Amino acid sequence: MIVGVPIETYPAERRVALVPLVAADLAKAGLEVVVQPGAGEKAGFPDAAYQKVKARLVSDRTQLFSLADVILQVNFLDAHPGAGDDLELLRQGQIVLGLLNPFGAPQTAQKLAQRGVTAFALELLPRIGRAQPMDALTSMATIAGYKAVLVAAVELNKMYPLMMTAAGTIRPSRVFVIGAGVAGLQAIATAHRLGALVQAYDVRPAVKEQVESLGAKFVELELNTEGSEGSGGYAEAMDEEFYRRQREMMARVVAKSDVVITTAAVAGRKAPMLITEEAVQGMHPGSVIVDLAAEGGGNCELTRPGERVEYNGVTILGPTDLPSTVAHHASQMYAKNVSAFLHNLVKEGQLDLNLEDEIIRDTLLTHQGEVINPQVRELLAQPTSAPVNDERKNS
Ligand code: NAI
Repeated sequence: MIVGVPIETYPAERRVALVPLVAADLAKAGLEVVVQPGAGEKAGFPDAAYQKVKARLVSDRTQLFSLADVILQVNFLDAHPGAGDDLELLRQGQIVLGLLNPFGAPQTAQKLAQRGVTAFALELLPRIGRAQPMDALTSMATIAGYKAVLVAAVELNKMYPLMMTAAGTIRPSRVFVIGAGVAGLQAIATAHRLGALVQAYDVRPAVKEQVESLGAKFVELELNTEGSEGSGGYAEAMDEEFYRRQREMMARVVAKSDVVITTAAVAGRKAPMLITEEAVQGMHPGSVIVDLAAEGGGNCELTRPGERVEYNGVTILGPTDLPSTVAHHASQMYAKNVSAFLHNLVKEGQLDLNLEDEIIRDTLLTHQGEVINPQVRELLAQPTSAPVNDERKNS
């Protein structure tokens, strides 16, 4: 089986789906790796590093797509606006694996299905222990949480740590992290390491202990959070009255913070709006908000995805590409995730499409000309069960 690694075409993308070290590991498992020249360059992995581990450099993208049985990428087709269009290069039965933005860009799934491609979307991985080594969203959110704190530090007109100097004492900055999931916990740890006074809030009371173990104070709000945690550790959506009260209570903490990092997310839903324009008005000039939920609708009313907003002296950033700004390590982690996925999917050099396996079943986005995932089918206004699914049920 031949695994192909093309250059990423999404304009701001610096990551590569497979790094040389992991390519070597796939080769040991009997898979041949072919790479488009320059694929790893922006992430700090030159062509020579791939050749050293016996990965084969092909002449161009067309050759890569025609040789490869499996295409590994970070972003595919138009799953993210502005990415290149490889549709014509894909062929029936080819396997593609990556972040396919299934709920944000269902049209991409449709196109892949029409092309007869078997596509796996890593966003659809179930949150189970066995899937953890494959969980690219978690890897990327870890990086985003770390980098958000650094981005805020660059913008802030203050320093993070307490400093006692001959020129007087500098009080530490106050960082407030909203949402203590993967990105939030990493943001807390990073801000704490840099010496800031860190506070955090999450709608799931269970994370209080984790927040405190990282050296931050858990903000207690008088809200009834019963039912806030669903299966797999995900937050459940709360009603609008809950969010209204949360916004009101949190505004006091937001007003006293120098940096607010928001990461609140509810799977499959628009991000909850937690910081109003009025709350931003209450912040002092020079403060910074980094809204990691920007792409999913934003946690701050004033956020614009991918843009910088200045409001009353407060800077609001809505970065959408933080993992790509740490391309070397992001690629290394992503490559480990896709390699773990491939090890589970390919047995003795052959595709083993075992639909009894929850990981394979849940991530399968398109197969035999159909979009398989019921939610994506719904978004495409198709009956929720694909004919291939029905066949499976009947067999
Ligand atoms: P996660 O699901 O691990 O964490 C989200 C947290 O938000 C959960 O702990 C949840 O309980 C909490 N939450 C939900 N509703 C809340 C509320 N009303 N108040 C307080 N907390 C609430 O998600 P993860 O992986 O940490 O990702 C966080 C966000 O970062 C997502 O929107 C994700 O898309 C985004 N992200 C952004 C990147 C970027 O470059 N901007 C890169 C990677 C992820």
